[in-house]
Amino acid sequence: MLRLLTAGESHGKSLVGVLEGLPAGVPISPKEIAGELARRRHGHGRSGRQKLETDRFEIHSGVRHGRTLGSPIAVTIDNAEWEQKYRELMSVEGDADPDEKLTRPRPGHADLAGVQKYGFDDVRNVLERASARETAMRVALGVFCKAFLAELGIDVVSHVVRIGSVAVGGSDVPGPEDLEAIDSSPVRCFDDDAGAKMVEEIDRVRKEHDTIGGVFEVLAYGCPPGLGSHVQYDRKLDAQLALALMSIQSVKGVEVGDGFATASRPGSEAHDEISEGLRRTTARAGGIEGGMSTGEPIRVRAAMKPFSTVPKALSTIDLRTGKGDVAIAQRTDVCAVPAGGVVGESAVAFVLAGAVLEKFGGDSLVETRRNLDGYVAGLGISPGRS
Ligand SMILES: Cc1cc2nc3c(=O)[nH]c(=O)nc-3n(C[C@H](O)[C@H](O)[C@H](O)COP(=O)(O)O)c2cc1C
Repeated sequence: MLRLLTAGESHGKSLVGVLEGLPAGVPISPKEIAGELARRRHGHGRSGRQKLETDRFEIHSGVRHGRTLGSPIAVTIDNAEWEQKYRELMSVEGDADPDEKLTRPRPGHADLAGVQKYGFDDVRNVLERASARETAMRVALGVFCKAFLAELGIDVVSHVVRIGSVAVGGSDVPGPEDLEAIDSSPVRCFDDDAGAKMVEEIDRVRKEHDTIGGVFEVLAYGCPPGLGSHVQYDRKLDAQLALALMSIQSVKGVEVGDGFATASRPGSEAHDEISEGLRRTTARAGGIEGGMSTGEPIRVRAAMKPFSTVPKALSTIDLRTGKGDVAIAQRTDVCAVPAGGVVGESAVAFVLAGAVLEKFGGDSLVETRRNLDGYVAGLGISPGRS
């Protein structure tokens, strides 16, 4: 079983992550992790913090001389502002300064339900952990999952398909070879014209002191048929992907394949007919049927809401006085859908790596690959590259 755990507060000393269950022999270079963390910081619409953060990370265990050992992988990412700004505020010792307490919960955040649930009088005790800073660690650990999958011929790629009212036209989907071009777009959009309009949309919203959401799509190429299973609800691959994507801060909708659009189509136009070579003539189901991969490319989408820390602050109640006020305004992104896509790739890579290990096992990469190759040879097919 592949397990991933993160710990750490947004302005605490460090984020901590553990990934357990990845086989031995997966090649890993710190450069790849630095590159993926930089991709998460990228994107038109991010706040000043992204420029501040350099994401200094360290691999503490589970890797030796550039390859995984099969033992738990532990990674930390430091908070660049810890020494100068947060050492006192986030100290593990002493009492909180009453003047520093945050008592105006932000609508749309974990703030109010969190203080009610845990019995706090300081919203910071909640917002520090609820923050999407945590996704930096998911991305760092996702690098290991992606590296494992890549060794098995499985590649994961994401792109932005909507920012606010601007959506990509047509139904072209990028392949792994397009990732560089996508990353060079300020909004990680595969369609240059739509990308330019998305930039304008973000600039317009920024001028209006507002925030804006959107939709990213994640594709996985090279998966064999049979990842996941129809036999139990929590073994279904689509269910696992939905959980992983929905757990990303601000994601409010997940689609597999054509998802919601399928609901308005007749059955004769909603499915992917089977043709020679057991390939499909269309890609409506997103490469998953009955909770299992079909061997066609996997395609999922996630909708991110506009961020709730709106610069023109929303109304709330000050918990100290019980009177109406405006919500606390922390440094905020206008839009982070491009970054959401990078986090989404990590979420999908983690689920697929787990599903591969469930099906093929293996304590070493060589063993997993042998088992996978034997299975695919037995099926007499080549999994969906196109
Ligand atoms: C990469 C990324 C960056 C985010 N940055 C912000 C931000 O700057 N301001 C904000 O209000 N929300 C931001 N969020 C979303 C909040 O963390 C999230 O809305 C909040 O924790 C409440 O969770 P929920 O929306 O999933 O219910 C970000 C999310 C992601 C994935």
